[in-house]
Amino acid sequence: MNSSKALFFGGTSEIALEISKQLKKYYDITSFSRSISANKNYTKEIKIDFNKKIFPKKKINKNLKSKFSLVVFFQAYQPKYNKNFYDLKYNFINEVINVNAIFSIKIITYLIKKKFLKKNCKIVFFSSRSGSIFERGKFNYHKPGGNNLYRASKAILNSFVKNISYEYNSLDHIFIAYDPGWTKTKSSGGMRKGLSKKIVSKKFLQNILKFKKKHSGKFIDLNFKIIPW
Ligand SMILES: NC(=O)c1ccc[n+]([C@@H]2O[C@H](COP(=O)([O-])OP(=O)(O)OC[C@H]3O[C@@H](n4cnc5c(N)ncnc54)[C@H](OP(=O)(O)O)[C@@H]3O)[C@@H](O)[C@H]2O)c1
Repeated sequence: MNSSKALFFGGTSEIALEISKQLKKYYDITSFSRSISANKNYTKEIKIDFNKKIFPKKKINKNLKSKFSLVVFFQAYQPKYNKNFYDLKYNFINEVINVNAIFSIKIITYLIKKKFLKKNCKIVFFSSRSGSIFERGKFNYHKPGGNNLYRASKAILNSFVKNISYEYNSLDHIFIAYDPGWTKTKSSGGMRKGLSKKIVSKKFLQNILKFKKKHSGKFIDLNFKIIPW
C-alpha cells in the first residue's frame, strides 16, 4: 500500500493504462470509467456513466474514503462524423461536450466541496493542443474541417481549467490543462506517425513532478512548454 492516493477518470484510456504501469509504484490508483479494464495496476475500479443527467454523488461518496494527492481526467469522446455540422443531433453534441469538459468540472468542484483532495493536490485535465484557439490554422499539418466539435470541447475544458484555478486560488491545489502529444492510440488516428504510449507516459510522469502552484491554470504540453489558449 502506498501512502499517496491517485484518482483517474477514464482509466481505460490507452494512455492511462500505460501511465498506470509506473505510477502504481508511488500511488494507489482508483479509477472511474464507463467500463472495467481489469487493469491490475488499479487498486479499485468503479463503473460510472459520464453522460448521466443526474450527477452521481452517491456513487462517488460510497466509493471514496481517502484524500487524493493526484487526480487525472483522461476520458474523451471523439466520434467521427461525416455529416454537416448543422445535421448533428442535439444529444450527440451534448455527449461530446459533457464527457470531454463538463463532467470533469462537476467532479472536481464536488471533490473540492467534499474535501476529498489533499493540500497541494495536482489535478491534471487531459486536453489537446487541437483545442488551442490561438494555434488553429498555424501549422502546416492543419487543414480546414475535421472534428471541430472535439476541438471546441477541449477549448471549453481549457476555459474551465483557467477559471477554476482562479476561483480556488486560495486553496493549494494545482490545476493543469495538459496536452500529452500526438500518441499512437486507436482513437487518435496517430497509429503510424504518433509518439509511442511509452514515451508519452514517461513524459507525463516526469512532468507531474514539475507541476507547482505557479503552473496552476496553465495549458502545458509534454515538453513542459506553455500552449497559448
Ligand atoms: N492520443 C492522442 O494522440 C491524444 C492527443 C491529444 C490529447 N489526447 C487526450 O488524451 C486523453 C487520453 O487519450 P487516449 O488516446 O488514451 O484515449 P482513448 O484510448 O481513446 O480513451 C478514451 C477514454 O474515454 C472513454 N470514453 C470515450 N467515449 C466515452 C463516452 N461517450 N462516455 C464515457 N467515456 C468515454 C473511454 O472509455 P472506454 O475505454 O470504455 O471506451 C476511455 O476511457 C484524451 O482526453 C484525449 O483527448 C490524446
